[in-house]
Amino acid sequence: MPDAALEVRGVRKEFGAIVALDRIDLDVAAGEFVCLLGPSGCGKSTLLNAIAGFTRPSAGEILAFGKRVVQPEPARAMVFQEYALFPWMTVRENVSFGLQIRGDRGACEKADALLDKLALRGFGDRYPKDLSGGMRQRVALARALALDAPMLLMDEPFGALDALTRRSMQDELLRIWTELKQTIVFVTHGIEESLLLADRVVVMTYRPGTVKKIVPVALPRPRDEATPEFADALRSVTRLVREEQLRHERDQRA
Ligand SMILES: Nc1ncnc2c1ncn2[C@@H]1O[C@H](COP(=O)(O)OP(=O)(O)O)[C@@H](O)[C@H]1O
Ligand SMILES: [Mg+2]
Repeated sequence: MPDAALEVRGVRKEFGAIVALDRIDLDVAAGEFVCLLGPSGCGKSTLLNAIAGFTRPSAGEILAFGKRVVQPEPARAMVFQEYALFPWMTVRENVSFGLQIRGDRGACEKADALLDKLALRGFGDRYPKDLSGGMRQRVALARALALDAPMLLMDEPFGALDALTRRSMQDELLRIWTELKQTIVFVTHGIEESLLLADRVVVMTYRPGTVKKIVPVALPRPRDEATPEFADALRSVTRLVREEQLRHERDQRA
């Protein structure tokens, strides 16, 4: 695949006796939006962290834009569930931090433009503690976008938000992706969320985490949960995830 942004080849990851990931193969095309989906503990974060370069696989390799991943790089921006903002910095400082380090002289203007884009105009001088959870996560997203990273890695970024806020964040992310077409790898355990967002959903097995099935989502955007097509997709992906959840519960009882 000439325009593969991400190539995961035979990745395995062990933590002592636990095999968190095994035989993971995955290609993600440039500009593609992929969700990693599976029950808690199936290795989603472990895989994302390996793609980010925070951890090294025990075996196999990962290439990003044709280059082997050995450490974190600005080309792959990470957005975590816990907002990970600097509490002592204003919103504007948080968003422009990476640009300042890079010596970008237009850092503040760029930060303000991003705050506008994410409906945070007027909040640049506030501190994270003064914002709601949804707004803090918008700031975290703005910070990730500030460096124009061609790849966004998102680990349950909206998991801590209430349902309505999550819904608007999903729309906002889709709006931004439609405009900027980054390659996005988005981790979630939300089946609906994955079907609202992704071009393809990578359903993972539980322990060891492997690729159970890759489900292309052919539904046109903007997607509508109320359609029979969405309901069909939801039903079939739910069945896949449910199988793994049941396996997980059986393991816990054993
Ligand atoms: N640093 C670590 N040390 C030991 N075990 C870990 C570590 N990180 C993850 N694990 C284990 O690996 C498995 C996968 O974890 P994780 O990737 O966090 O799953 P998910 O993100 O899908 O919930 C779990 O069994 C977890 O306990
Ligand atoms: Mg996780």
